[in-house]
Amino acid sequence: MRVPASIGQRLEEVDTPALLLDLDAFEKNLFTLQSSLKGSAVRVRPHAKTHKCPEIARRQIAAGAVGVCCQKVSEAEAMVEGGIGDVLVSNEVVGAQKIARLAELSRRAQIGVCVDNPENIAALRGSNAELDVYIELEVGMRRCGVAPGEPALTLAKEIAKSKKLRFAGLQAYHGRAQHVRSLAERRTAIQQAQHAVEETKRLFEKNRFPCPIVTGAGSGTYMLEVQSGAWDEIQPGSYVFMDADYAKNEWAAPLPRFAHALFVLSTVMSRPGPDRAIVDAGLKASSVDSGMPTVWQRPGLNYAQASDEHGKIEIAAGAAAPALGEKLLLVPGHCDPTVNLYDWYVCVRAGVVEALWPITARGALQ
Ligand SMILES: Cc1ncc(COP(=O)(O)O)c(C=O)c1O
Repeated sequence: MRVPASIGQRLEEVDTPALLLDLDAFEKNLFTLQSSLKGSAVRVRPHAKTHKCPEIARRQIAAGAVGVCCQKVSEAEAMVEGGIGDVLVSNEVVGAQKIARLAELSRRAQIGVCVDNPENIAALRGSNAELDVYIELEVGMRRCGVAPGEPALTLAKEIAKSKKLRFAGLQAYHGRAQHVRSLAERRTAIQQAQHAVEETKRLFEKNRFPCPIVTGAGSGTYMLEVQSGAWDEIQPGSYVFMDADYAKNEWAAPLPRFAHALFVLSTVMSRPGPDRAIVDAGLKASSVDSGMPTVWQRPGLNYAQASDEHGKIEIAAGAAAPALGEKLLLVPGHCDPTVNLYDWYVCVRAGVVEALWPITARGALQ
């Protein structure tokens, strides 16, 4: 695999497009998350779907996380391969091949999985996997999950029929709330989720069914879940990088503001006119599903349009225009799919390449 840069290289010398991790900002984000939780017993299990990199997972665990989440079995395989001993697949795993791989993984590490269907529980039971099993509740996202209350209890009873499956609790993740711009609206959404969680926990207690952990929450809301007292574990992912879309949220107490740590380094490859520059980073270098990247610390430069290999930058009247060959830092619109376009992080501190970290779960879709 071709390495995109070399250690000790200055940023200006790094070839483009390249995925940069600003180590100072990244480390600050790890610290900011942990400090925001001071005095709380809530566990942190960051989502590794964001970074797909065991080097980053190790640092999150060193900062205080109990383990990581993954969305796919193959991501979990990459994490375990990279030395991570505790992984929750925060997703349903359906199909004989995937379940067999999950069972295999459960003999190498502490593995958790989510369920929302009795047939799926029977299939997991039949695989001899030793798993922590979480019932996923539908709490407003309208994706996977069972309705709160009785349907969740029915599934818990199904799980309890197996000796190897351990009922570990509930997953309640409100994905749609994360990017709602107004904090007040995010708070309302999480309060509704909280009611669903509490109603279900009460029913479990009434039936003398212990519910060890409630897990969920992302970067846009996690302090709301923490303050509610209904969650025991949070799963923020994007906080380590902070993308351009998340930056548009209203960030106010109790949520701390995270720093931009992830960038796409690009080169101006054409200057067709005074009001236009073309960079070598298009949609194959920075995902555009959540909007265009922004140009970092260059007022008056607007990344207006992406095609496969080109990015069109509009130059406002009076703005400092970039020269041909000049390098521009872009903040990706959406961090997760952008990371999935690269094999390596070029880790930079104070303008010098300090490390190269492989993105070993890149393309891990199955
Ligand atoms: C189940 C689950 N937990 C946590 C997260 C992390 O969210 P974020 O990257 O917004 O912090 C996601 C992201 O989609 C998710 O699907």
